[in-house]
Amino acid sequence: MISVAMNAAREAGAFLKSSVGKFRHLERKIGQETNLVTEIDKQSEALIIRAIKEVYPDHAILGEEGGASEGSSDYRWIIDPLDGTTNFTHGLPIFSVTIGVEYKGEIIAGVVYDPNMDEMFSAEKGKGAFLNGERIQVTKTDRLIESLLVTGFPYNVKENPSNVIQYFGEFLPVSQAVRRLGSAAIDLAYVACGRFDGYWEFFLHPWDKAAGILLVKEAGGVVTDFKNDPSNIIYGQNTLATNGLIHSAMLDVLKKEVTPL
Ligand code: IPD
Ligand code: CA
Ligand code: CA
Repeated sequence: MISVAMNAAREAGAFLKSSVGKFRHLERKIGQETNLVTEIDKQSEALIIRAIKEVYPDHAILGEEGGASEGSSDYRWIIDPLDGTTNFTHGLPIFSVTIGVEYKGEIIAGVVYDPNMDEMFSAEKGKGAFLNGERIQVTKTDRLIESLLVTGFPYNVKENPSNVIQYFGEFLPVSQAVRRLGSAAIDLAYVACGRFDGYWEFFLHPWDKAAGILLVKEAGGVVTDFKNDPSNIIYGQNTLATNGLIHSAMLDVLKKEVTPL
């Protein structure tokens, strides 16, 4: 199963990389001026679904670009065929393909592939997390002030002003620094391999994080919502992923009352 996911992600990633600057149709998702989608997102998803269905025709699919289908089995493949579309459309080489496999409510396998760095992050439940075949682990940093953090912002921040930006400001003075890369899947993979100590984001979708959740957990980290509840982490929106050691310090910051923009 993991090799099917890896092969599909590698093929889709190569397609994305070769398509930078070549897309013809830039659409905006309904009601959201900044939420972009190109025909490349859709073609990448079609390619991944074809690869999965060849081997597992009865498995269910949940793809960001509408490729949802119910299957007769308990397996569901959760796919973001291009995570980081805004970066992609500007030629900024930070984007990925991510595929997670859910079985009876739990992610049991997942990959995040970054075609620009040729980095394949992979994990299977109970077997550890890997980067290009080498075992990876979260950091051992236990002080927030020494931690490098990363976050992302939802697309509807203009239409729906909320308090998401304020937390960037809350974390800045109490951490070493905060970054915003533009691909949630890469953010999570980087927590798993120790490039970041912690990541938080409001309003994520299951396809952004299904694989990343398993990567962080299998690398020894912790993933919960902002109330420290891990139970609905795939389909719930708010996501906190850390090395475990700074989890409660980050939860304390996320508990703060801030005034919406
Ligand atoms: C987005 C990216 C971004 C995150 C957004 C996602 P997309 O996914 O992961 O980093 O901040 O919340 O929607 O639209 O590029 O697949
Ligand atoms: Ca995404
Ligand atoms: Ca996407």
